[in-house]
Amino acid sequence: MSNILLITSSPRSASYSAKVARALAEQLASLESNAAMTVRDLARDPLPHIDDSFAAARDVPPENQTPAQKDTLALSDKLLKELFAADTIIIAAGMINFGIPSTLKAYIDHIARPRVTFRYSEKGPEGLVKGKKVYLVVARGGVYSEGPMQALNFQDTYLRTVLGFIGLNDIELITVEGVGYGPEAAERAVSKAMAQVSAIAQVPAIAA
Ligand SMILES: Cc1cc2nc3c(=O)[nH]c(=O)nc-3n(C[C@H](O)[C@H](O)[C@H](O)COP(=O)(O)O)c2cc1C
Repeated sequence: MSNILLITSSPRSASYSAKVARALAEQLASLESNAAMTVRDLARDPLPHIDDSFAAARDVPPENQTPAQKDTLALSDKLLKELFAADTIIIAAGMINFGIPSTLKAYIDHIARPRVTFRYSEKGPEGLVKGKKVYLVVARGGVYSEGPMQALNFQDTYLRTVLGFIGLNDIELITVEGVGYGPEAAERAVSKAMAQVSAIAQVPAIAA
């Protein structure tokens, strides 16, 4: 049985990234009669920013955590349970000021946990979230996949870096870009992404 985690994060209710990501989640779920899906809409249901008590508690091994520290980490633990339970993770992110929505950054701050999702070994950092397929759906007003704006893309490049750091290296990118060039350009970009969604759902990938 496949278990899909769908994470959307755009502040825009007419979000292209959320639309495409939802379509992908629904199409993948429809391939199996008993697929499970968990949806996290980070814009509509935002997480708190991490704070001083979180920063301290995340460094304490579970056996030494005080009850207060366990309470502090409870939400993060819940998010991690969802993450580890999923075999397919779909993340939708619009570009906001060259990067990702702050709601998605808050989510990442909750799931990047020493000894849980990454650790440092003699060989350097090691990601601990393994065997999952990730689909990243990114939308943006400009074109950053090529041309002069490429160096200013801190959206999917950042996501690949931080997801890879926690072990999520099997990432397929779906890009909806150039939507700021007008409604026709936006429609073309969404159609192209939807075609990619259909192709993925025809031959769903098995996590590496
Ligand atoms: C507050 C804000 C900041 C934005 N910053 C950028 C940006 O830096 N670069 C860009 O190409 N588009 C930018 N855009 C345009 C969005 O990336 C575009 O609307 C995209 O479709 C958003 O994703 P969504 O459709 O999933 O909401 C911005 C839009 C908003 C509302």
